[in-house]
Amino acid sequence: MVMSVGKAGNKKQAARRGGGKKETEMELKITPARPEELKAKPGQGESLSFGKIFTDHMLTMRYTQGRGWHDLEIGRYRDFSLAPSAMCLHYGQEIFEGLKAYRRQDGRIFFFRPKDNLRRMNVSAARLCMAEIDVAQTWAAMRELVLLDQDWVPRSPGGSLYIRPAMIATEAALGVKPSREYLFFVIMSPVGAYYPEGFNPVKIYVSDQYVRAVRGGVGNVKTGGNYAASIKAAVEAQALGYTQVLWLDAIERRYVEEVGTMNIFFKINGQLVTPPLAGSILPGITRDSVIRLAKDWKIEVQERPISIDEVLSANDDGSLEEVFGAGTAAVISPVGALYYKGRTITLNQGRAGALSQRLFDSLLGIQYGELPDPHGWLMPLAE
Ligand code: COI
Repeated sequence: MVMSVGKAGNKKQAARRGGGKKETEMELKITPARPEELKAKPGQGESLSFGKIFTDHMLTMRYTQGRGWHDLEIGRYRDFSLAPSAMCLHYGQEIFEGLKAYRRQDGRIFFFRPKDNLRRMNVSAARLCMAEIDVAQTWAAMRELVLLDQDWVPRSPGGSLYIRPAMIATEAALGVKPSREYLFFVIMSPVGAYYPEGFNPVKIYVSDQYVRAVRGGVGNVKTGGNYAASIKAAVEAQALGYTQVLWLDAIERRYVEEVGTMNIFFKINGQLVTPPLAGSILPGITRDSVIRLAKDWKIEVQERPISIDEVLSANDDGSLEEVFGAGTAAVISPVGALYYKGRTITLNQGRAGALSQRLFDSLLGIQYGELPDPHGWLMPLAE
C-alpha cells in the first residue's frame, strides 16, 4: 500500500530546507509482514525488560545529497545491508532518539511529546552535519508504524512502547567529512523499567576519573559516541555494585553534569536544583517536564551549576532532601546512594523521596491518561 504523509512543516523548517520552497507530500510505502513472519508478542502480565524484543515492523527513509529524503517505507523489522566502508561505522556519524507510547485502560494509545524528540533530533543532526528531517512528515509516518504494530503497545501496568528513531551515515567512503547519504530508521520495543531496580532507588558512582563530555563537544546532542564513551566507567561502577555513573564537568571535575541515561536533580532546602543546559548535557524532555511540573507545584527550580562538594555538604548539614534522575527510559529514578572518592552517602535512608514519588506518579498519571494533561504533552495515535 502507498499513501502520502505530512505537509510542509513550519516556516522555520521550510527556511532550513532552502527558503520557503513549497514542500510536497512524501509517499509512504507500507509492506506489512506476511502472517508467517509475525513474531510472538510478550504475554499479558509478562514482565518486560528494556529493549530486548522488537516489534514486527520498522520505518526506513533514505537521504541522498541533491535529492533529499526519499524511499520512505514501513516494512518488516529486518537486518540492514551496509557497505563495510559506510561512514557511520568509522567516524560515528550517528544520532538517535527515544520516546514512548502508552496504552490507556480504555485501550487508546498516546505518545508523550513525540515532536519534541523529532525536533531535538534535528538539533543533533545539525551538530553532526547530518541531514535534517521534516518533523511533520516523519511524525505522520511514525504514527502509521505504531498503528500497524499497535498490538505491541503493552497492556501491563508500567509497560510502554519505546520508540527509537535513529540516523546513520551510509555513504561508502573513508574521508572524514559529512556523508552524502543517510539512512533514517525507527524501531520499537515493548518495555518495562529501564533499571532492574524499577522505581527502587539506584546507587550511583560519581566518576572523578573519566569524563563524558566537554562544552563545545557533542555532549548536548544524542549521538552514540557519548554513550560509547560512558561504557567503561559504567562497567567499572557496576563491578563495584553501582547502577550508573554520575558525570562531573570535564574541566574542573567539580560540577555535576548528568548520569548519561538521565538528567539529575537535587532537592535542597525545599528547592529543586539541576545543572543548566550549558552545552555538555542533554536537554532531556523528561528533565523539561519535571521542571514544568515542579513550577506548577510552586516549587522553586534552580537551573544552575552545582558542585559535588555542595551536594556532599548539603548532605552533611541535612539540607539535601532527595536526589533523583529523569529520562525517557528511566522515567524518575530515585538515587539511594552516591559514591564519591572513597565515601558513600546514603540519601533519604536509601528510600524514594516524596518529591520523586510525586513526580513519578504525576508523569505516569499524565502519560497513561489518569491525570489531566495541562501542558498538552500527549498526542493520540488515532485522531
Ligand atoms: C532514553 O531515555 O530514551 C535514552 O535514550 C537513554 C538510554 C536508554 C540510552
